[in-house]
Amino acid sequence: MTTIGIIGSGQVGSSLAKAAVAHGYEAVISNSKGPQTLAGLVAELGPEARAAAATEAAAAGDFAIVAIPLTAVPQVPAEPLAGKVVISTINYIPQLTDASRSSTTGRPRWRPRRAISRSWRSP
Ligand SMILES: NC(=O)c1ccc[n+]([C@@H]2O[C@H](COP(=O)([O-])OP(=O)(O)OC[C@H]3O[C@@H](n4cnc5c(N)ncnc54)[C@H](OP(=O)(O)O)[C@@H]3O)[C@@H](O)[C@H]2O)c1
Repeated sequence: MTTIGIIGSGQVGSSLAKAAVAHGYEAVISNSKGPQTLAGLVAELGPEARAAAATEAAAAGDFAIVAIPLTAVPQVPAEPLAGKVVISTINYIPQLTDASRSSTTGRPRWRPRRAISRSWRSP
């Protein structure tokens, strides 16, 4: 079974986790507060889902979805995502403090050795 590591369990992360298990994937989902705060969501998702720390979710996934605020990008665990496809839902909102992007190119800084696809986001 294909496992999706999901970083972020808010509106987007939880919705995609529900869609994932409904379509036969295993989901390992994480947030910033810790897996113990995701018991209710995991119970709702069923046996194909579990909660974990972000680092473990990243490591467990055959690929990953990152659905967190732009400002949290520096905390994304880069090493366990190395070599994996990472789907980012993150919207770039210029008005926010933006230490995560290069001030010269506007591109995300967090992309060592992996492909990033942008999905489910505004243009
Ligand atoms: N909502 C939409 O309709 C929509 C549509 C397209 C794109 N987007 C984009 O998708 C992203 C997520 O949106 P959302 O609406 O799902 O946001 P949200 O409901 O505010 O959820 C954000 C999630 O990110 C988690 N998080 C924050 N910092 C983290 C970290 N360091 N490690 C792991 N998890 C962390 C939060 O965990 P805690 O709750 O524990 O802090 C929360 O689960 C945003 O960038 C947004 O711009 C949203």
